[in-house]
Amino acid sequence: SNWEFIKTEVQGEKQNVAVITLNRPKALNALCNGLMKELSTALKQFGKDKNIAAIVLTGSEKAFAAGADIKEMAPNTYSQCIQGNFLNDWTEVARTQKPIIAAVNGYALGGGCELAMMCDILYAGDKAKFGQPEIALGTIPGAGGTQRLTRVVGKSKAMEMCLTGNMINAQEAEKLGLASKVVPADQLVAEAVKLAEKIGTHSNLIVQLCKEAVNTAYETTLQEGLKFERRTFHATFSTADRKEGMKAFVEKRPANFTNE
Ligand code: HXC
Repeated sequence: SNWEFIKTEVQGEKQNVAVITLNRPKALNALCNGLMKELSTALKQFGKDKNIAAIVLTGSEKAFAAGADIKEMAPNTYSQCIQGNFLNDWTEVARTQKPIIAAVNGYALGGGCELAMMCDILYAGDKAKFGQPEIALGTIPGAGGTQRLTRVVGKSKAMEMCLTGNMINAQEAEKLGLASKVVPADQLVAEAVKLAEKIGTHSNLIVQLCKEAVNTAYETTLQEGLKFERRTFHATFSTADRKEGMKAFVEKRPANFTNE
């Protein structure tokens, strides 16, 4: 495809990992409307593609994304924000059914940090920096910075980050559970692709159910979440892949999943 603000490619030994690279270097990948539209389109395309098991979302070594595009949104008025439903097309990452891994090098600020937090797994390059600096611009996070961040790192740290605008580094992000791993910057994307490939060895169908179950933990009470998990677990018994997975174990051979 002919993208202006992103690059897309397919990687992995089985060519089943989509890599989407934010590519607006002059503005440190500031997330302008055009970029977010392309990102949504690419996610929908890879979401439908049966050959793709998982998606990696990354930026450059200098910046994952330095936030929403400040110059573009500066003239917005309140009524335009409301009537244009500003940020409504930011949610595709969170809506994607396939696993999506954020590979964050450099700055992940404001909307950039929020975009990374919409992903399912976050790997950080060793020079990554995370922050919610909106407060310094006279505004507040608008795509999950006060909500997802608080659920991940807890109230005190989230409050500190959102009220000061101070950044945290990759090591702190890992310690706080925001990132699950810190990787040398130049190996980050390769590591993320390896992780996606490992996920891709399993049944895409069951992976999707499992992702939905983990996400439910963030969206409901423990009792409701446990009920959802139990029923989803039961549902796997109606699939060919569950039968094959258990049969393969008993026969001491690798499973041959068909996503049915
Ligand atoms: C528009 C941006 C930008 C942004 C950087 N640029 N961030 N343009 N929107 N968010 C542009 C700069 O204007 C500059 O363009 C070029 O990118 C390089 O940036 P520099 O500032 O010269 O780089 P550096 O000195 O290395 O500083 C890097 C930085 C700084 C610390 C990341 O750029 C910065 O503070 N950026 C803003 C971060 C921020 O406040 N993000 C939150 C945005 S609000 P020129 O043309 O001068 O070369 C937000 C709201 C979210 O995200 C709401 C929900 C989505």
